[in-house]
Amino acid sequence: MSELLELTGIGKSFGAFQALSDVSLSLREGEMLGLIGPNGAGKTTLFNIITGFLKPDSGQVRYDGAAIDRLSPGQRVARGLVRSFQKPMVFPALSLRENIAMALRQHAGQGLRWPGGAAKRAADAKAEQLLARSGLTRRGEERMADLSYGEQRMADLLMALALEPRLLLLDEPTAGLSQQEAERLLGLVRQLEARTTVMLVAHDIDIVFGHCDRVAVLHLGRMLRCDTPAAVRADAEVQAAYLGSLAA
Ligand SMILES: Nc1ncnc2c1ncn2[C@@H]1O[C@H](COP(=O)(O)OP(=O)(O)O)[C@@H](O)[C@H]1O
Ligand SMILES: [Mg+2]
Repeated sequence: MSELLELTGIGKSFGAFQALSDVSLSLREGEMLGLIGPNGAGKTTLFNIITGFLKPDSGQVRYDGAAIDRLSPGQRVARGLVRSFQKPMVFPALSLRENIAMALRQHAGQGLRWPGGAAKRAADAKAEQLLARSGLTRRGEERMADLSYGEQRMADLLMALALEPRLLLLDEPTAGLSQQEAERLLGLVRQLEARTTVMLVAHDIDIVFGHCDRVAVLHLGRMLRCDTPAAVRADAEVQAAYLGSLAA
């Protein structure tokens, strides 16, 4: 497997506060990497740097073999570097199906115009496929605002998947979900895993250790360890900093 994403020596401070220090990390094509760490560790800041919403003070982001520091967030999305937001831009008064179709149209460069003919049929078919894969076909006509919290989180994921990610960054997609809902969402992500490289932030240790190929631990803005779930779980420093009572 080749490296899809390579972070080298990433540093970021907000005023006098050092949020990230010398963070290096690489993701192989097709792998699913869990990113864990206490609140404030710098996980979201790292996602913001990878997606181009924040500029690092130091270090470099390489994606698909090239430095992407100069690319805007939109240019990164066009290359398959996609994140799901905890509060994505959705149209609450439109149906789930229409929201997915909207994401598909934006991805196809059609903006918010209502396409006709072949483009519309292709978008509708893709929206249908995404709904079917998530088990939400029967909820397609519901307004976004009327979906349950769990369905909305699933809808966030579908919207990100509509952009055909090559690298998908998920920032706490399972927050507030029941164990069953969280497993279903991760199941959908894993169906894609062979093709899509995934970086997942989640607080639920069972989800992260159960689904990810490797786990990276951020602590106070530093990369403490990045290794297989078993090695990370057994690491004394990680246990002291984060896992605490999980010691086996
Ligand atoms: N735009 C910002 N301005 C000032 N401080 C920020 C900003 N964004 C994040 N921080 C701080 O950086 C630290 C890391 O935040 P964050 O990356 O959101 O952590 P995590 O996602 O791991 O909980 C926190 O202490 C947070 O308050
Ligand atoms: Mg965060």
